[in-house]
Amino acid sequence: VLRVDPDRMRADFDALAAIGRTGAGGVSRPTFGDAHLAARAWFLERAAAAGLETRIDSAGNHSAVLRSTRADAATLVLGSHLDSVPDGGRFDGALGVVAALEALRTAKDARLGLPVGLEAIDFTDEEGTLVGLLGSEALAGALRLEALARPRGGRDALLAGLARAGLVEERIADARREPGSLAGYLELHIEQGPVLERERVDVGVVTGIVGSRSFRLEFIGVAQHAGTTPMGVRRDAGLGAAAFIIAARALALRDHPDCVVTVGSVTLEPGAFNVVPGRARLALEFRSPDAARLAALEGELLELAGHEAEAYGLDLEIVLVGRWEPAPLDPTVRAAIGRAAQELGLSTLELASGAGHDAQALAGVTRAGMIFVPSTGGVSHQPAEHTEWSDCVNGANVLLGAALELAR
Ligand code: GLV
Ligand code: MN
Ligand code: MN
Repeated sequence: VLRVDPDRMRADFDALAAIGRTGAGGVSRPTFGDAHLAARAWFLERAAAAGLETRIDSAGNHSAVLRSTRADAATLVLGSHLDSVPDGGRFDGALGVVAALEALRTAKDARLGLPVGLEAIDFTDEEGTLVGLLGSEALAGALRLEALARPRGGRDALLAGLARAGLVEERIADARREPGSLAGYLELHIEQGPVLERERVDVGVVTGIVGSRSFRLEFIGVAQHAGTTPMGVRRDAGLGAAAFIIAARALALRDHPDCVVTVGSVTLEPGAFNVVPGRARLALEFRSPDAARLAALEGELLELAGHEAEAYGLDLEIVLVGRWEPAPLDPTVRAAIGRAAQELGLSTLELASGAGHDAQALAGVTRAGMIFVPSTGGVSHQPAEHTEWSDCVNGANVLLGAALELAR
């Protein structure tokens, strides 16, 4: 079986990890920041140096292309993302892009004359610093205007970021590809959870990806003097926020054991020792593998927020800023991944993804699959994120093997 060049891939991985590197061994490459733009430019340079075609679409997705010998050939897309969460790890997304590039180089060197084109792609804003799955949903034709009007990162940040990247909002949707032009989608990613390591399995075959919702909640009370306003008459926005956070956890644990609920950001205003908080802004996110349960949880959480607002004499504003449905992955692609792993003598386990991925957008328009490799300690979205290099190489070889099977 054809295999990637592990040293060439390692050199790329390390060079990429140096872009936006943080002291703790991670990277910080929020969408359209300097480090993110530098990483994307680096990717295209590496692709060009390998003799691959390069392209950037109107959603900012960066691609390396190995054309088929057939003029009308469809394209099998391999990819992930080069943006990161703030102060994130160096594997999340980056491994999938580097491995996709390496798979194309390996296929090119082997002069296979494939009946489909191969494309290694770095999707724009997977992590949702600004919108979330921006590039992959645009390519799939699934980006909703509402997502751009009320983005997770705020409208001003989105417009400033697009300007920095030289992108035009009105043209983002032009990145849509005809489903018939796609031969499928494959993504290698670290698991970001504890299962593969615990089960001592080499490779995960992903069955599906959770759905999620993001809301901004704002509890609104009255900012007052913290020394002279008696406890009993305050309308303290911070208390409503705190009560909601605790109660949301209890609700999930009690009634929705397969769901996760997170308040990842709390801002109190005006934000001083001696002022009762007049406003509390929360970033609320929750996820479920099941669409009906996700909808039920949404209703219950928003009702709970209203209940806590009332209990503390507060007003409440709710804004939906992200909505992604659960996405099952394609059985034929899963089977191809399983066979590729077997040919390499690697053990496999089927598992669901609790993290979001570009593959969930692609799954709506083409056969899509994902390969997971173990995460040390299950740690991710922080600098200590780690995967053994031998596992990264295993994953890249499975990506290559599955891609070649799907391509033929
Ligand atoms: C992306 O990594 C997400 O799951 O939020
Ligand atoms: Mn990722
Ligand atoms: Mn991530």
